[in-house]
Amino acid sequence: MTAAAASDARRLRGRLIALGVTGSIAAYKAVELLRLLTAEGADVVVLLSPSATRFVGPLSFAALSRHPVESDVLDLLPDGRIGHIVIADSADVLVVAPATAHWLAAMATGLAGDVVTAAVLASNAPVVVAPAMDGDMWTHPATVTNVARLREGFGYIVVAPESGPLASGQSGVGRLAELPAIVDAVVAAVADRPVRQPNPDARPPLATGIPREADLVGRRIVITAGGTREPIDPVRYIGNRSTGRMGVALADAALARGAAVTLIAAAVEVPLPDAAEVVRVESTADLQRALRAAMTPDGAPADALVMAAAVADFTPAVRLDRKIARADGLTLQLSPTPDLLADVAASAASRAADAAGGPATSPILVGFAAETGSLDRAPAKLRAKGIDLLVANDVSEPGSGFGTDTNRVTILDRGGSVEQLPLLSKREVADRILDRVALALDARDEAAQTADARPVRAEEGRPA
Ligand code: CTP
Repeated sequence: MTAAAASDARRLRGRLIALGVTGSIAAYKAVELLRLLTAEGADVVVLLSPSATRFVGPLSFAALSRHPVESDVLDLLPDGRIGHIVIADSADVLVVAPATAHWLAAMATGLAGDVVTAAVLASNAPVVVAPAMDGDMWTHPATVTNVARLREGFGYIVVAPESGPLASGQSGVGRLAELPAIVDAVVAAVADRPVRQPNPDARPPLATGIPREADLVGRRIVITAGGTREPIDPVRYIGNRSTGRMGVALADAALARGAAVTLIAAAVEVPLPDAAEVVRVESTADLQRALRAAMTPDGAPADALVMAAAVADFTPAVRLDRKIARADGLTLQLSPTPDLLADVAASAASRAADAAGGPATSPILVGFAAETGSLDRAPAKLRAKGIDLLVANDVSEPGSGFGTDTNRVTILDRGGSVEQLPLLSKREVADRILDRVALALDARDEAAQTADARPVRAEEGRPA
């Protein structure tokens, strides 16, 4: 089975899942539950009860789900629709995790005072409930009666809490069930029902205006930095003047915006961020291996690659394993290196061409073009490499290029737009590039959700 075909095994592809979170200490686990549901291909929209907002902020949920978070029954969507009703009418399944004793009681009596109960009450989609509370609360006759009513009276699927240490310091039954068990219950609840609301306009809207500090939450970004060194013999190499400042500024900025960053660092002269997963490389060949591993690891493929490394264009045709003596003389024969970025672009395109992988798995690819004198070659470079964005700069200009803390760049995109930025700090340039990456990823996700939500053909189990 190819990687793309394997990704088609995502069990919630095209489904809209409403995740209701109520005010338990286990509310933080809902963030990870959201990730697991998304990894199964679901489009997730989050509803928070007022007390849940005291444990977890709406920003992480909005950034991860890419939808506005519903937390107030009286709030309207920007287009005037009532958010929790849109969710009630379009979700394929509603999952309440963690569900507090208070929420179970409110739901058992139909008291719709918060968005989670209101959405569940207004929906005829299947409901999965994962309670979490203190052990004595769980065994209290009131809770036992409420759970029985939800299960037997309303037909809700209750994923019972587990036994173990509780927030109170005691031990007993009350811990939120293991998250994979909740995901399995959600999968079983939708089973082979058709997608309930395939029309994206009738589903909850996408979030807009997520601030920079969170707009890359949930994204995995690979960044290369520094200059490669091509070995001539064990003591000598061919290098270049890159210091790695631009790549490291990109890694710092991406981390500050919530991304998980793999930083592939060739020769760099600046400190590397602790929060990144750092892979050290020396030659172009090392960089190629590290890139392949980072772009398509065993888990989810990377969301974006920003190729800021100065990759050698030529490498010695032979590498000697002993030091060449001066008396021997030296004439170097160089061979061109493979174009690593074009390579990554070609393999991403071939994965996307497989309908099973689809655009959802295509990374956003950003290249750099260090030119001298004119940027005329930049548009052709962008096309030849098959990438989404090219950041071009004239390294011969004062304040731009190697070893400086500033840069003046022009960002070209696949659609033909050209954005000339003024002289800025490398960190600000990094943020401007990441603004474009964040937008491109949102557009990619929107397109994928629309495609995934098309009606599922029962005989294929795939969108028609
Ligand atoms: N790059 C690459 N592999 C190479 C050379 C460059 O992946 N062997 C990447 C660089 O990291 C950069 C982009 O391609 O993001 C453009 O690099 P640049 O040196 O400007 O372009 P080249 O394709 O090498 O073209 P030329 O040398 O003709 O300018």
